[in-house]
Amino acid sequence: MAYLEIRDLQTHFKKKAGTFLAPVTETIRAVDGVNLSIEKGEILGLVGESGCGKSTLSRTVMQLIRPTAGSIVLNGEDLAKLPPSVVRKRRLDFQMIFQDPYASLNPRMTIFATLAEAIRQRHPDAKGAELNERITTLMETVGLDPRFQKKYPHEFSGGQRQRIAIGRALAPEPKLIIADEPVSALDVSIQSQILNLLKKLRAELGLTMIFITHDLGVVRYLADRIVVMYKGKIVEEGEAEALFDNPQNDYTRKLLAAIPKLAATA
Ligand SMILES: Nc1ncnc2c1ncn2[C@@H]1O[C@H](COP(=O)(O)OP(=O)(O)O)[C@@H](O)[C@H]1O
Ligand SMILES: [Mg+2]
Repeated sequence: MAYLEIRDLQTHFKKKAGTFLAPVTETIRAVDGVNLSIEKGEILGLVGESGCGKSTLSRTVMQLIRPTAGSIVLNGEDLAKLPPSVVRKRRLDFQMIFQDPYASLNPRMTIFATLAEAIRQRHPDAKGAELNERITTLMETVGLDPRFQKKYPHEFSGGQRQRIAIGRALAPEPKLIIADEPVSALDVSIQSQILNLLKKLRAELGLTMIFITHDLGVVRYLADRIVVMYKGKIVEEGEAEALFDNPQNDYTRKLLAAIPKLAATA
């Protein structure tokens, strides 16, 4: 069995529609029968246009939303069947990185305080020299100068803030990282630095990763395997290079055509 096995997963939302006199309840099938498996140490790229259900799928895997149906088996254990108290403990093993690090970091907490809080989720008694050591190591791991640990998020650039958010996600020593559009708000030159950092972390820490993006170009050199999602379903799946060289699905071809071509060099 794969490290993470998602079977027939469905996450539906109810939405009120119609008129006051004739109300109807619509069902939004944000995730509509997804099957996926991920091997340990693999980086899976999850690609699809805005609104196709990528974030709902990741939030369901994280158990931030309970699925309508289906199973999410991590390490042989179905997360969808666990009681909330156990889910909270398991959640340390899988952490998320979001698009906007400024919104996800607490502006009133120094980097030290942010990382200390995240480290204590796994090591509740960490303090003093041991805590300092862990924070220094973590900052070095994500490419930040440990001398900046008493600074606040607004004192950093967008790329540095995403490094802080990545450090915070790594602090509880997770096994699976779900990164939801982690470079979409960054300048192109900064994007590749963050992608290289994620690649390095996979190699050094053996992380398993789901990397979500609406931009197929971003995952080409990062993901081992790519799945393409459309209207709540997986419509194509393949090794990254094969998918780029020989897409099988019309929608995948459309996504490929949307990647900006590199300017021709003279
Ligand atoms: N909490 C929610 N309540 C109702 N509808 C939602 C909720 N979250 C997402 N949706 C709907 O589910 C669909 C998929 O959204 P989302 O998972 O955010 O897509 P993506 O991340 O691919 O842009 C959209 O139609 C969205 O409006
Ligand atoms: Mg999203």
